[in-house]
Amino acid sequence: MKFLTVSLLLSAAFAYYVYLPLPDTLSEPWKLMVLDAVFRTFMHVGNLAHVLGFGHDIHVINYFVMKAEGTGPQSSQTMQVTDTFFAGVPVRVFEPTKPVRQPHLKRGVVYFHGGGWALLSGRMRSYDLLCRNMAEELDAVIVSVDYSLAPDAHFPQQYFDALKTSAFFLSPEVLAQYSVDPQRVAISGDSAGGNLAAAVVQQMVADNRTTKFKVQALIYPVLQALDFNTPSYQQNGNTPILYRPIMARFWLEYLNASPDLAPLLLANNHTALDLASMPQEVRAKIDWTRLLPPAFRKDYQKVTPAEGSGSVLEELPALLDVRAAPLLAEEEVLSAVPPAYIMTCEHDVLRDDGLMYGRRLEEAGVAVTSDHYQDGFHGCMVFSSWPAKFSVGTRSMWNYIRWLKENL
Ligand SMILES: *[C@@H]1O[C@H](CO)[C@@H](O)[C@H](O)[C@H]1NC(C)=O
Ligand SMILES: *[C@@H]1O[C@H](CO)[C@@H](O)[C@H](O)[C@H]1NC(C)=O
Repeated sequence: MKFLTVSLLLSAAFAYYVYLPLPDTLSEPWKLMVLDAVFRTFMHVGNLAHVLGFGHDIHVINYFVMKAEGTGPQSSQTMQVTDTFFAGVPVRVFEPTKPVRQPHLKRGVVYFHGGGWALLSGRMRSYDLLCRNMAEELDAVIVSVDYSLAPDAHFPQQYFDALKTSAFFLSPEVLAQYSVDPQRVAISGDSAGGNLAAAVVQQMVADNRTTKFKVQALIYPVLQALDFNTPSYQQNGNTPILYRPIMARFWLEYLNASPDLAPLLLANNHTALDLASMPQEVRAKIDWTRLLPPAFRKDYQKVTPAEGSGSVLEELPALLDVRAAPLLAEEEVLSAVPPAYIMTCEHDVLRDDGLMYGRRLEEAGVAVTSDHYQDGFHGCMVFSSWPAKFSVGTRSMWNYIRWLKENL
């Protein structure tokens, strides 16, 4: 009897911990609740370790993630996998080695993993699997970049790492060494990795480089930190796995600012109407009342306080820096970037970052393929294998790879 009571209580506590009211249009809500409970546990452990003085919570979380998920560079009969360095930055390179009748040049993809510029690694099982699938399906050399992470590195270090590794791979000698066709190299990344990919292609336009990326594929990218109240931020603030305050915290870590500024950012106080440091032409670049179709705007209202917290944009000029926020680029730069594939998810605070960027690229004359997942959530594309296997994860991953196959 006692045993039964205890088990019932434990189950109730467990269900309470795991249960979240979620929209029923989400792919497999129960699985997402369990996944989210696992993430929350990581966060709690990280916070606890921080409070107890065992280390920075981000280090602790990354330690557990890599313990649970890290893999070595395991080659197979058809795939050579190597951990090496490009321009001093650690990378994992996947090369298909299937014997072919005619020697030929392969495609190439430079990939940046997600994780808020702070977490995760290209050496995790889920990214390792994604890159293997890509290498095999596209007959491509995939370079998965382990750029520096916060809190050990801050903007613009992550960005410079991404730029350096891209330039290194695109050099004629390195492409030749890997038998990659200079006309068929893509740049890609998810979440914070999509931010880095978008920023790098913009910079390469400005640099007038001779060897360029043929296409860019941005997976639910984060592209701006001036409006934390876009319709998607308002709609999905409490949807796992990327909660609204967590995205603000990631930005502040990336920009090396105090996490205490999060409430201010979330209130859009840094872009209040009384701030001279927020020019009108910058507002226009993030004006979702114009850049989003009505179906996404719904009835959401803009949050633009009349009075704000004066000095934030001066203290954190990176908030206005296109290298951190590629959505703020000038149209002239956008008009010269390669064709884009942009994946967005309905249940994601970053949905509108991606949609607005797609719209701005189109207005600049760039060919854009928008791939929107009505049942998708932030991060879903890397949840395509057991034990975190979602239907929308598998579907989105193969659609993304198919797009690369047809356009690269
Ligand atoms: C870039 O290349 C174009 C054409 O080759 C040239 O006209 C232009 O001056 C170059 N710009 C820079 C910044 O090097
Ligand atoms: C936003 O700015 C207003 C006006 O300066 C201030 O009263 C309010 O406390 C600020 N809110 C946050 C969260 O910083």
